[in-house]
Amino acid sequence: MLQDLGLRTPIIQAPMAGVATPVLAATVSDAGGLGSLGIGSSTVPQARAMITQAMALTARPINVNVFCHQPAQRDAQVERRWLDALAPLFAECGAQPPADLTEVYPTFLHDDDALRMLLDLRPAVVSFHFGLPDAARIAALKDAGIRLMASATNLAEADAIGAAGIDAIVAQGIEAGGHRGMFDPDAADERFSTSVLVRMLVRRHHLPVVAAGGIMDGQGIRAALDLGAAAAQLGTAFILCPESAADAAYRALLTSEAAGQTRLTAVMSGRPARSIVTRFIRHANASGQSPAAYPVAYDAVKRLDALAKAQGNAEFGARWAGQGAPLARAMPAADLMATLAQEMGAA
Ligand SMILES: Cc1cc2nc3c(=O)[nH]c(=O)nc-3n(C[C@H](O)[C@H](O)[C@H](O)COP(=O)(O)O)c2cc1C
Repeated sequence: MLQDLGLRTPIIQAPMAGVATPVLAATVSDAGGLGSLGIGSSTVPQARAMITQAMALTARPINVNVFCHQPAQRDAQVERRWLDALAPLFAECGAQPPADLTEVYPTFLHDDDALRMLLDLRPAVVSFHFGLPDAARIAALKDAGIRLMASATNLAEADAIGAAGIDAIVAQGIEAGGHRGMFDPDAADERFSTSVLVRMLVRRHHLPVVAAGGIMDGQGIRAALDLGAAAAQLGTAFILCPESAADAAYRALLTSEAAGQTRLTAVMSGRPARSIVTRFIRHANASGQSPAAYPVAYDAVKRLDALAKAQGNAEFGARWAGQGAPLARAMPAADLMATLAQEMGAA
């Protein structure tokens, strides 16, 4: 599938909701890789604008990623206790916790508007995170000539992806930054490393396997290809590119000693995700309370972060990063692509 797309280099810039921009994705695609947009946290009009912009900036393929989580199981008591646990942080910002929380964005599983928008714009690739949509949606996207990829963190998820007729499996290891793509966040997690997961999936499936998690340079990409991966998907490596939407505080944290400490935690959004350890994470963990369900818990973080940022406090927002964060380099995306290719020995 990746050969059909005409990629000149087997590098996928990871879809990163809130961080990847049309300019970043188009620059990576123009450099011969596959640029991606994450629209999981965008409204349909916002997503349409981003995809249209990226497709106007490059004639090369781009990937659009959607979130396929099960709708939140709301529990008023858990949400109330969670807001109570966060009350001291809201108080620091001179505010009360909100009276209640909302499911900040819908799941693609039931989002007909998002499906119609994708069928209308027809990006070359659509990828799924947190699960798979139903057969009818998959068939509609395929009939429109769109190639499909989906994240797997274990063998059962990869098997489901293969059975659903998806074109490539993104093998997401425990090292990865951002949300872990596990289909069921409450299931036991084997926490496979990228290298082990890639080897298992290459031996088990005929589909192309894309290695994701902890890959930060050309040497890492080369190693993933040696393990049998068809391509490598890099997220954290692209956050410091000037074309990303990361704000100054995020960039500062990622270039500080703090980047060496990341944690997979559900306290930010309600689902396991790897972030640089911030004061929010330390406070939330110390509270001992279970977070509200995904993405309801994220609503609390977004509100708190907006209040805190207005006061110059950047310790409460999402600072997703993989274990390789200390290896991130600040350089324009085109230069990073050239550097990665040169390190791989492919340029
Ligand atoms: C800031 C950030 C945002 C992310 N957002 C998404 C997303 O919207 N959709 C998705 O499928 N994966 C997302 N991921 C996970 C990536 O697809 C990929 O698995 C991960 O970046 C690979 O690990 P690395 O960060 O060590 O390269 C995100 C990762 C980061 C760092």
